[in-house]
Amino acid sequence: KKPLIISTDPGIDDIAAMTISLFAKELDVRMIVPTWGNVALNYTLQNTLNLEKFLNTKVPVVVGANQPLVRPAISAASVHGKTGIAGFEFPTADKSLVRPGLAATLMYKEIKNSSEKVTLLGIGPLTDYALLFKQYPDVVDNIEEVVIMGANIGRGNHSPLAEYNIAGDPEAAQVVFHSGLKMKVAPLEIGNKAHVTQEQMKEIKACGKVGDMLYSMFSNIHEPDGDPRIKIFDPTAVGLILCPEAFTLKQADVEIELAGRYTSGASVIDFMSKTPNAEVAVDVDVDKFADWFIKSIQNAEQE
Ligand code: BDR
Ligand code: CA
Repeated sequence: KKPLIISTDPGIDDIAAMTISLFAKELDVRMIVPTWGNVALNYTLQNTLNLEKFLNTKVPVVVGANQPLVRPAISAASVHGKTGIAGFEFPTADKSLVRPGLAATLMYKEIKNSSEKVTLLGIGPLTDYALLFKQYPDVVDNIEEVVIMGANIGRGNHSPLAEYNIAGDPEAAQVVFHSGLKMKVAPLEIGNKAHVTQEQMKEIKACGKVGDMLYSMFSNIHEPDGDPRIKIFDPTAVGLILCPEAFTLKQADVEIELAGRYTSGASVIDFMSKTPNAEVAVDVDVDKFADWFIKSIQNAEQE
């Protein structure tokens, strides 16, 4: 099993990505680090704990950053609802899964004590991974790869040129892209394409209590572009790990614009670079992806 740490800002699609990861037979989720992101940290933390209670999993939760490194926080409450998970009422969990301490330090210890290299999954702003790399530069020796949902090749969703997770903390994203680690990126275009149909969503609902929970939330997402298709952003990053055959990857150099007046937070992706720092997904086989997504939910249901 691949050891995995998840940095997340739940967020409806984060809930789906975590659910799949927690039950995937190929993964050993060691730690979940909720961060500020779609909504404030108090919500993303509580949503993570509530999800674990609902799923009856016991993965340690470590409290992540409550704001970006440099800039004021942004919010996607208009997309995901005030609490981040519009559409579903979870039972409220206590804080017994929370491990006290700083996220960077606890991640570092977990990674250093692991007999196998750890994979980092990033499905929110990358503040906590940037802090980890800055505080403990030697951590990279024990990391397998960093897999993220974020960045955009074409138009952004936060602004014309910036995607939400990168726009949320551009300085942190730039640190992560310069960590020297192997990186895999599922950009916005892949999430836009890897949608599930209304019929498939009904199939997911029929799976059982997990499917019903996801159906309720996904039916409540309000995409800023008004697109009625059900887009599945964060699980595409999990798909890069568990269902790579659904994706086409291309090497590229990814740089984050930190200074632009209208372009701040934009990802500048150069597929022609001779010094690539990431593999970026440029295409997804929607049928293969949707098939994997539905099977993963069915699998979670059986546990
Ligand atoms: C990303 O932004 C968030 O709103 C989603 O959870 C996803 O991680 C998509 O741009
Ligand atoms: Ca997210």
